[in-house]
Amino acid sequence: MAMKRAVSSAVRAFASSPASSGSTTLARHLHASAGSKKIVGVFYKANEYASMNPNFVGCVEGALGIRDWLESLGHQYIVTDDKEGSNSELEKHIPDLHVLITTPFHPAYVTEERIKKAKNLQLLLTAGIGSDHVDLKAAAAAGLTVAEVTGSNVVSVAEDELMRILILVRNFVPGYRQVVNGDWNVAGIAYRAYDLEGKTVGTVGAGRIGKLLLQRLKPFNCNLLYHDRIKIDPKLEAELGAKFEEDLDTMLPKCDVIVINMPLTEKTKGLFDKDRIAKLKKGVLIVNNARGAIMDTQAVVNACNSGHIGGYSGDVWNPQPAPKDHPWRYMPNQAMTPHISGTTIDAQLRYAAGVKDMLDKYFKGEEFPTQNYIVKEGKLASQYQ
Ligand SMILES: NC(=O)c1ccc[n+]([C@@H]2O[C@H](COP(=O)([O-])OP(=O)(O)OC[C@H]3O[C@@H](n4cnc5c(N)ncnc54)[C@H](O)[C@@H]3O)[C@@H](O)[C@H]2O)c1
Repeated sequence: MAMKRAVSSAVRAFASSPASSGSTTLARHLHASAGSKKIVGVFYKANEYASMNPNFVGCVEGALGIRDWLESLGHQYIVTDDKEGSNSELEKHIPDLHVLITTPFHPAYVTEERIKKAKNLQLLLTAGIGSDHVDLKAAAAAGLTVAEVTGSNVVSVAEDELMRILILVRNFVPGYRQVVNGDWNVAGIAYRAYDLEGKTVGTVGAGRIGKLLLQRLKPFNCNLLYHDRIKIDPKLEAELGAKFEEDLDTMLPKCDVIVINMPLTEKTKGLFDKDRIAKLKKGVLIVNNARGAIMDTQAVVNACNSGHIGGYSGDVWNPQPAPKDHPWRYMPNQAMTPHISGTTIDAQLRYAAGVKDMLDKYFKGEEFPTQNYIVKEGKLASQYQ
């Protein structure tokens, strides 16, 4: 039954794929055939922290907790954090791996060049949400499947965003710094610390994370706005108490706080450039846990320097890990962290389980949950098109 499904899906894919130029495409669409698969996982290394929590599965050492299971099925499982350049551990395995698992927290950048080299590659799995580290068009043209664990860490990110909003609104970081440095200067913090109540907060993107954030903001009695490709169902919209803004540029100048909650796509790359930032309220606070490249890096630096952006916080950078000289490390009024919001222990357990479930389905020739597909049968998920 599973085999029949796999074959018919391969034939469908062959017929519909824009890249259906021959047997490579057909072969890449086939679900796992019998025999051992080479699976490579790219995660961040935990070193001395690895043994501190048995549920710390999102790191190299924890390897998503699926090593024993994969090896008991006869598959080869290689895990590394060494992902950049032609001498990296990842590069060595590109020519013969079948599955690549990676995470947005320590992304393996899957370029067109790597895809061309990866002759056996069939499946790219993201342990988390956001697969922009993959050249999705090249993956589609090569007949690869790209899937992520949709929903796995949305609560983790929404909670983190709420924290970052409060950190910025209350001007928390300079106060913390004073304490660490042995200082005491209330005025140096209080002159620009506010209540969140009564402020206008707009989310750019109101999908899974955006909606959870709006839900969490409701008790703070803010004025809530959202912009998205899709208007929220009226009943839920009324429950959230958020107003739809069809036009992004009409919404943005109204906001005291802007939160970015959309994927990085061709349409959203560099969306916040110099001109758009210039139209924001002076002193606006921005929280971005979505993707670093949605912002023009230097435009953010300049606006933080001039005070046009009053505070910028987030955990996503371009590229990752952020180099030591990344300008966001040194700009004023930032409350940045490494990419951490979606990799709480709770989130790790959820995305590890989601990856295991998809691998199991891949081995059996079964479909994944529909919402997990980012590239399937030569087509990108709608928001990436
Ligand atoms: N920092 C982290 O740890 C972390 C974790 C999870 C997700 N993320 C990021 O957050 C993003 C959102 O996650 P989600 O689970 O809410 O995704 P989602 O797919 O549920 O929601 C995304 C929303 O953005 C909207 N959208 C997409 N393109 C748009 C455009 N051009 N204009 C207007 N709206 C647009 C969609 O319609 C959708 O409602 C992810 O794609 C990922 O990049 C970050």
